[in-house]
Amino acid sequence: MSSKIAVLPGDGIGPEVIAQALRVLEAVCPSVVFEHALVGGAAYDAVGTPLPDETLALCKASDAVLLGAVGGPKWDKLEPVSMRPEVGALLPLRKELNLFANLRPARLFASLADRSPVKPGPSGPIDLIVVRELTGGIYFGQPRTRTPDGETAVDTCVYSRTEIKRIAEVGFEIASHTRRRKLTCVDKANVLETSRLWREVVSDAAARFPSVALEFMLVDNCAMQLVRDPGQFDVILTENMFGDILSDEAAQISGSLGMLPSASLTTPNQGRSFGMYEPSHGSAPDIAGKGVANPIAAVMSAAMMLRYSLGMPTEAERIERAVELSLREGAATPDLGGTASTSQAGDAILKNLG
Ligand code: IPM
Ligand code: MG
Repeated sequence: MSSKIAVLPGDGIGPEVIAQALRVLEAVCPSVVFEHALVGGAAYDAVGTPLPDETLALCKASDAVLLGAVGGPKWDKLEPVSMRPEVGALLPLRKELNLFANLRPARLFASLADRSPVKPGPSGPIDLIVVRELTGGIYFGQPRTRTPDGETAVDTCVYSRTEIKRIAEVGFEIASHTRRRKLTCVDKANVLETSRLWREVVSDAAARFPSVALEFMLVDNCAMQLVRDPGQFDVILTENMFGDILSDEAAQISGSLGMLPSASLTTPNQGRSFGMYEPSHGSAPDIAGKGVANPIAAVMSAAMMLRYSLGMPTEAERIERAVELSLREGAATPDLGGTASTSQAGDAILKNLG
């Protein structure tokens, strides 16, 4: 039976970049079936809610989800807060689909070396993956509230051993099978109790992966080290909020936020995990509709989908190679200093699929 993909283009540049990812997917795996659905501000405008029941049902009935982006100034002030695309669509999608493992690879392509705002450090160019816990921590902890007088606000960071163990195992699996066997667990253990529990559980998990070198690093130091010598990192394992921040930093030093794909998985590492795939850049309302968005993060997210959800690693590599070749030929959008439009960048990738 052919695989079914739920396609949720969403807001801002989402539809523009997803269109290019679909062209590439259709060329590489013509038997896959795509079904489109509404999400985010686009869904709110059409049917009054950012995550319609039909959209969630379609995701649950699919093998994977390809998401563009959600949010934008038009919906930023909606009340209640649960009508806003990020809070009302993206976070519930992650939670409802149990997408606890967020993988965000960041690599500086040789042809983009001069685009990085940082010079290569002693360990060479950046080639790392952030393994971010995605369904726990301060994003979801209760209580989250305001006092009735509005003067005080509370967010809560909660982690259980079970939540930490399962994401730690994903980090170690990736470090031991597909990479350079180094894992940096990033936390704030000098201040936070949740971080101290992370250290305990991650140390226990390390015993089952003797081939992986484990180090712990405080998050403020990690933010600094990423600028000083990003090549020292292989796998960065971290909690939800720190992973959010560090993955943006890692993206920027690998040339452009427009390059960074992501996979959010439920049962990683078996080649057929259910997952949601999205570019990490968000809806970029400032350039939406202009045809200049970089489609690479979306195209590379589609490649991750083939690798992790559809069991098609060879096709994934074909796409990644085509992206690299197209960049070498100079088919770069303005965020990379080029003049290519979104669809011209897509044309170049298609041509290089070989
Ligand atoms: C991301 C985004 C989201 C997050 C926002 C839009 C809720 O920044 O995917 O990194 O914080 O997780
Ligand atoms: Mg973010």
